[in-house]
Amino acid sequence: MSILLTGGAGYIGSHTAVELLQLNKDVIILDNFSNSSPLVLDRIKEITGKSFKFYELDLLDKKNLEKVFIDNNVDSIIHFAGYKAVGESVDKPLDYYTNNIISTLNLLELMKKYNIKNFVFSSSATVYGNPDKCPINENSPLRATNPYGQTKLMIENILKDISKSDASLNIAILRYFNPVGAHKSGLIGEDPNGIPNNLLPYISQVAVGNLDKLKVFGDDYNTHDGTGVRDYIHVVDLAKGHIKSLDKLNTKCGLVIYNLGTGNGYSVLEMVDAFREASKREISYEIVKRRQGDIAICYADCTKANRELDWQAEYGIKDMCIDSWNWQVNNPKGYK
Ligand code: NAD
Ligand code: UD1
Repeated sequence: MSILLTGGAGYIGSHTAVELLQLNKDVIILDNFSNSSPLVLDRIKEITGKSFKFYELDLLDKKNLEKVFIDNNVDSIIHFAGYKAVGESVDKPLDYYTNNIISTLNLLELMKKYNIKNFVFSSSATVYGNPDKCPINENSPLRATNPYGQTKLMIENILKDISKSDASLNIAILRYFNPVGAHKSGLIGEDPNGIPNNLLPYISQVAVGNLDKLKVFGDDYNTHDGTGVRDYIHVVDLAKGHIKSLDKLNTKCGLVIYNLGTGNGYSVLEMVDAFREASKREISYEIVKRRQGDIAICYADCTKANRELDWQAEYGIKDMCIDSWNWQVNNPKGYK
């Protein structure tokens, strides 16, 4: 019985593959490398000493995708694959709707045809839009503010509908907060294309000398130091959350939804300080105007995942920054 990881060469997928292989699970990785490097596969093998099947394949290519299900005894799917850049989704909405939605429909149709019951979906805190209050629990109102967020919300709705139509399906919708950090080995980590949009990759590249200075997007928010507050979660904690979710699906739970975060919020300036401490490098920054679409504060109520999955994030921001830095300093150009 195999676990299929779509997008398994990506940032979160590769870390999850490592955790699964270390538990001797039978893993199949599928990726088209649209946002990742083939080198990741060697790095996963180097960390774990384990082998796994790999398919270089686009999920939009349904004909070849079907071969994966014909050739293997897939038991569970973790669906990481998708485009994820908010700004790009505003410029190229059709690319986002096509890639994220059609890919998922292809997978779900094959899942039905091959009688696969367990499905884990990478959703995002973005489905809460600008939340009315924090911490955010799973029952908070859902709203999307950009095409990327729309695709997450649409897929969540599709999953809710198919779950209603077939009680034998077990589906976990995981709403990630802000994944950061890297594997302790420094062999795998986040490798954004071009100039990073997200805070930690940007800070890391300033620290390593690839970028000049961080632009802090606004210091006039209603937060303790005026800068935006987020719930950063170590990617290895997140990966472990997937394993606990698979355990949950094996109890035949139907559809479940969990926030995966730490429950703690840190400001941009707190992250800059923590990263300076971890890297022992100066992080130059300037305050600029707010980034359009940003919210002031976002952090999770994770009590449901703590209770029902017996899962809790273990790493704090010190480890997140140390591990991000270890990855960045050992791979200053990422996988390139
Ligand atoms: P990533 O871009 O590193 O990984 C996604 C992988 O999917 C890439 O390797 C890419 O090549 C692959 N892919 C994309 N479209 C594909 C297709 N049509 N066929 C085959 N492979 C395809 O992203 P990530 O950070 O690992 O995120 C994984 C998932 O988690 C995504 O769905 C993302 O939206 C979601 N998510 C990420 C974050 C975050 O901040 N990283 C936060 C919330 C949710
Ligand atoms: C972004 C996405 C969100 C996604 C989340 C996790 C946007 C608008 N939103 O949100 O959909 O779910 O990532 O992947 O892109 N910051 C700076 N300077 C920078 C970069 C960021 O000051 O160069 C600030 C931001 O204003 C924010 C914080 O750092 O306050 C975190 O930003 P980021 O890492 O982009 O994550 P989110 O804004 O939470």
